[in-house]
Amino acid sequence: MDRTKIDLRTIDNPECLKNCAEDVRDQITDGDICAIATSALDGLPVRCVGEWAFEKIYYLRQYFGIFVNGMKNKWKMNYIEVCCGPGRCITRHNGEEIDGTSLCVANHESFNLIQKAIFLDNDPQAVEILNKRLDSLGKGHIAKSRIGDYNDVASLMSTLKELPERCLNLVFVDPTDCSVPFSTIASIKEHLGRIDLVVTAGFGTDLRRNITNAVLNPSYGVAKKKYTDFLGKSDFFEREEVLKYAEAKDHKRLVSFFVEEYKVNLAKLGFEHTDMVPVRRNNFLYLLYATSNPKGLEFWQKAVHISPYSQYRLDI
Ligand SMILES: C[S@@+](CC[C@H](N)C(=O)[O-])C[C@H]1O[C@@H](n2cnc3c(N)ncnc32)[C@H](O)[C@@H]1O
Repeated sequence: MDRTKIDLRTIDNPECLKNCAEDVRDQITDGDICAIATSALDGLPVRCVGEWAFEKIYYLRQYFGIFVNGMKNKWKMNYIEVCCGPGRCITRHNGEEIDGTSLCVANHESFNLIQKAIFLDNDPQAVEILNKRLDSLGKGHIAKSRIGDYNDVASLMSTLKELPERCLNLVFVDPTDCSVPFSTIASIKEHLGRIDLVVTAGFGTDLRRNITNAVLNPSYGVAKKKYTDFLGKSDFFEREEVLKYAEAKDHKRLVSFFVEEYKVNLAKLGFEHTDMVPVRRNNFLYLLYATSNPKGLEFWQKAVHISPYSQYRLDI
């Protein structure tokens, strides 16, 4: 794999157990932060990730650079990341340590063009560690990490008041599943106004595994509520087609239908242009991009045109 093109400050971490079994991993991590290996770069805790994390970080970093440089003469800009983690990741299959999304953006050569960046996570440990890393990079004057829960919109909005107004905002939301309520996205949009949005969406994992049961099985009420909240105002679960696909166990069409509904709801918020790239080749996780600006979409498509493995992107 050609990883030479972007600088994620990659190093081998000899403390990583490498390929540890899931039950071992559960015991030695807390919120995915490893209790055994600390960073070989700065001695602080690291987040245990799968090999696909690199792809996500790569696309985000590419887009950040193109976005900031493309807009710098027209707009003042802010960067907001919800679910920021502690900043450094360790790839569990080979013990390779890399910058996570938050730190790779903060360490980008164009980061100083940003007015202000806010990194949010509901894990106080991750927030504290990331703040130390931002300070070590000398970015503390632009960027702060804050405790923030995407289910607690009021507190999230109060933190976003720290951002300068009349800016163009790049908002990256990076959860592990489809649990960020649409109302949170809507509130961020209402509060900040001009937004380009990137969301990590577990359409190939979480959703694909549970959506059929959420439609058919009353004991999946919690999953059904989660997906309803994720979609926002929608009669998705009452649709004839949804029942038909679920009964036919046609997970693929069910998921596509769900994704289309999500895009329709985003368009109602003003995000008329959307695009999606798979983070892993087996349609596991996706990065969903949404903007009101056709120029933004052009930038995004440029950013994701070349895959991290130096091959041209395949359409999905
Ligand atoms: C996929 S990780 C983020 C990784 C990070 N962006 C990176 O690249 O290193 C998901 C993060 O979401 C955080 N999280 C989980 N539930 C949350 C919630 N309700 N509100 C905010 N953050 C949450 C976790 O603590 C974790 O750090």
